[in-house]
Amino acid sequence: MCGIVGYIGKKEALPILINGLRRLEYRGYDSAGVAIFQNGKIKKTKAVGKIDSLSEKVKTADMVGTVGIAHTRWATHGGVTEDNAHPHSGCQDDLVICHNGIIENYRELKEKFLSGHTIKSQTDTEILAHLIEVFYEGDLLTAVRKALSEVRGTYGLVAMHAGEPNKIVAARLGSPLVIGVGENEYYIASDTSPMLAHTKNVVFLDDGEVAEITLDSMKIFNVDHKIMDKHVEKIEWNEAQAQKQGFDHFMLKEIFDQPTVVKDAIRGRFSLEDGAAHLGGLNMTDEQMHQVKRVVMLSCGTAYYAGLVGKYAFERLAGLPTEADVASEFRYRDPIIDEHTLVFAISQSGETADTIAALREAKRKGAFVRGIVNVVGSSIARETDGGTYIHAGPELAVASTKAYTNMVAVLILYALQFGRLNRVSVATGERLLRALLEIPEKMKLVLAQSEKIKAIAQKYKDYKDCIFLGRGINYPVALEGALKLKEISYIHSEAYPGGEMKHGPIALLSENFPIIAIATKNQLYEKMISNIQEAKARKAPIILIATEGDAQAKEISDDVIYVPQTMELLEPLVNTLALQLFSYHTAVLLGKDVDRPRNLAKSVTVE
Ligand code: F6R
Repeated sequence: MCGIVGYIGKKEALPILINGLRRLEYRGYDSAGVAIFQNGKIKKTKAVGKIDSLSEKVKTADMVGTVGIAHTRWATHGGVTEDNAHPHSGCQDDLVICHNGIIENYRELKEKFLSGHTIKSQTDTEILAHLIEVFYEGDLLTAVRKALSEVRGTYGLVAMHAGEPNKIVAARLGSPLVIGVGENEYYIASDTSPMLAHTKNVVFLDDGEVAEITLDSMKIFNVDHKIMDKHVEKIEWNEAQAQKQGFDHFMLKEIFDQPTVVKDAIRGRFSLEDGAAHLGGLNMTDEQMHQVKRVVMLSCGTAYYAGLVGKYAFERLAGLPTEADVASEFRYRDPIIDEHTLVFAISQSGETADTIAALREAKRKGAFVRGIVNVVGSSIARETDGGTYIHAGPELAVASTKAYTNMVAVLILYALQFGRLNRVSVATGERLLRALLEIPEKMKLVLAQSEKIKAIAQKYKDYKDCIFLGRGINYPVALEGALKLKEISYIHSEAYPGGEMKHGPIALLSENFPIIAIATKNQLYEKMISNIQEAKARKAPIILIATEGDAQAKEISDDVIYVPQTMELLEPLVNTLALQLFSYHTAVLLGKDVDRPRNLAKSVTVE
């Protein structure tokens, strides 16, 4: 996501900040900006596009000084424009902030505190800048603390005020911030990569902490405003390791990101009290929602499998006939679409050519077309008449992982939103939401088994073929598991619904053809176990994804990966992680280029 860099010391700040931003480029961004203290004032420069554009612009901006902050922005609220780029100020230019994260209650804050303020951008961050300005009475630390006490959301924040030169205030809640400790100088950044060339000694801020950093001291306060004696850690990572936050590959980092980013997908989009979801981006009145008689999911690859999960969710919760369609097929059929059809175009990149063409076709036919997209401002986001960003953050590995889980989470919320119109009670809605809120912890329990899954991958890595089996909501999980394994390990893998195996694929089975089956404790458990017995009778080695505590799973399989139980509709959010890890470890053990598999592109912009 966005990146923050700050510097306070005796050296010229500008080159340190610009180089620091370059170290953060890997996170993805679409604009950048920098602010420097200069002769009692703060000077700002911003640019849309690459850091090179910013670097060109600052050449003529005469920015000289030894204290400053800088930012790379990956758009979330508001398009990619210079006004929306950070640093942001209040009404006066003497205060600047850079912010990562999301201020959920920015509308309320604006209404409550900012009458008479002129807001120049569409960002939630600018509201925070104005709020700090409101509370500023000569002490930046106090103003930041007061403003943050009003905020609901997440932040990694750095702030400077012209009235207090040689001071940076930093704060963290849910969005990382690190302080690098040099000789009479400090570096601040959203991860360690911008500071590694200067210092290996760092302090990681914890949630709720606020730091006041001056030329010769760094004070860190906890939520109760007590000074903390924080441990200075020595970082042994090189820059590439730092960008992957110590993980060996971006894919593994992104798999481990899931418990955090799934929270971003659901945060602020539901009400437990009403047992309901409120996705404002749907942009439809209740009357229009009642007009919907059919739902169609359009997408490709992993996003298609997320759409398939969405089909199960919409049918079950909203009672609406729902189809998930591969976008490249949809556009060349004569699909039955009319003004009673709601179409979701689902895409991580928002640039997939087939999905764009399919959504245009659906629009031509008069459907309501909404996007479920990760990249803000992308073509699909722009061409749809509303929709929702999944907030997975930049996905850099070619194989999609965290975008899939966030798509599924958003689709489940949409299904609930429609379900609450007439089918789902408040109590049922609340039960689903409570179960959804438990998902991040359940994901962590799967991730904690990474080493065990690696040992299983070691055992099976040399097989040339395999079949994934699942039923019901776990059939799309099986499809996604097979796709992930084939695209990064190049092992031939297919997926079938458990009941379909006996109609053909069973002919393939032998001791050389493993089965990976999802047999968690849900309404189809017994049926799935019968299908597994059929495979076992043909001597196929069996790997099971089973529910914690299921003793039978051990008896009928060669290896089991246990996952925590959740509501059946939410199982893809947990079970898929086990398969992602299995594919990842298999590919690494086979020596494959996991982040950049052969023949694949991250964004498929051709038909
Ligand atoms: C699989 C994968 C692809 C994409 C597909 C759609 O790991 O990454 O199958 O899911 O190309 O891409 P988006 O979601 O960008 O439309």
